[in-house]
Amino acid sequence: MIPPGSTIGILGGGQLGRMTAQAAASLGYRTVVLTPETDSPASQVTSQTIVAGYEDRAALQQLADLCDVVTYEFENIPLDGVTWLADHVPVHPSPRVLKICQDRLREKDFVSRLGIATTRYRAVTSFAALADTVGDIGRPVVLKSTRMGYDGKGQATIRDETDLGVAWRQMGAAIGIVERFVDFAYEASVIVARNADGTAQCFVPVENRHANHILSETHVPAPMTPDVAAAAEAIALKIAEALELIGLLAVEMFVLPDGQLMVNELAPRPHNSGHWTLDACVTSQFEQLVRAITGLPLGSTERLADAVMENLIGDEIDKWPEIAADPRAKLHLYGKAEARPGRKMGHVTRLYPRPHQT
Ligand SMILES: Nc1ncnc2c1ncn2[C@@H]1O[C@H](COP(=O)(O)OP(=O)(O)O)[C@@H](O)[C@H]1O
Ligand SMILES: [Mg+2]
Repeated sequence: MIPPGSTIGILGGGQLGRMTAQAAASLGYRTVVLTPETDSPASQVTSQTIVAGYEDRAALQQLADLCDVVTYEFENIPLDGVTWLADHVPVHPSPRVLKICQDRLREKDFVSRLGIATTRYRAVTSFAALADTVGDIGRPVVLKSTRMGYDGKGQATIRDETDLGVAWRQMGAAIGIVERFVDFAYEASVIVARNADGTAQCFVPVENRHANHILSETHVPAPMTPDVAAAAEAIALKIAEALELIGLLAVEMFVLPDGQLMVNELAPRPHNSGHWTLDACVTSQFEQLVRAITGLPLGSTERLADAVMENLIGDEIDKWPEIAADPRAKLHLYGKAEARPGRKMGHVTRLYPRPHQT
């Protein structure tokens, strides 16, 4: 057990790191953030920041020396640095988990081998092979870079009329994955936490609505029958177990009209679709991460209210005065100076109290 008073290292300085640092502070932990960015959202709330690249060995050494445990807030960090770090200080989730989750192909192979449904997919390693691969899978498909994608970046949808050359350039990488386009009823996610003794807990499945491939709203709970919700949680638990996860994992899924579930992708870190837990659950996803990686007992994931979380993206941040004037809106701003298009600037959660249950 790593007791309160100890120091947690966080790789990455974005809003996920910021909210993790805030949760850590609430439990009496110090945090040190390593990020290439000066004045990052996380560094505004942390005890110390190391401004350096993720492969800077001297900086990683400094982080290892300062911290009792290290975690990360995004998966697009170079694996080598994290693997090196893990030889010097405990890193959770493990580099093995990161290796699987930072590559869409490895991730889908891993999930399929567990007998969990995904959409049909195939690797494509050159433009020359794209036409055959698309033919095999059958249009419409989504072409994605296997690495470094987020918020729909590195993706192209290929419909009947789409030019393959244009799609390949839009994808923009040397290796891709071709996925059958899923005509889903809606998208959902389950966030699961698991600690070193194998105890695991899920938050309730939620529905995620996207605009321009970026999460725009999370509705809690997802409109699932109890059977489908149980199946979604079972999938998340099975994956967490197979990964021997210590920490937090978000499992993004497609829900088909008949209730069938397909796993889309995994994120071994706090997830945007879990921000509502800050205001509506006994324990937030960020506190749960801190508990999981320090060996504290996991907290209750009980949901005290239904909720709708809305992201404030780009100039939507200009709405903050109205939101702040609504006494029941829970406003969270990330301290980012500049509102670029597509940039996540904050979020607001509105709670809908549940009927009293005894
Ligand atoms: N195979 C697919 N079929 C239909 N829609 C998809 C498919 N893959 C991705 N999408 C859409 O694009 C969004 C982003 O894709 P995702 O794989 O989650 O990448 P990321 O979130 O890392 O950008 C998804 O949430 C979904 O709305
Ligand atoms: Mg996604």
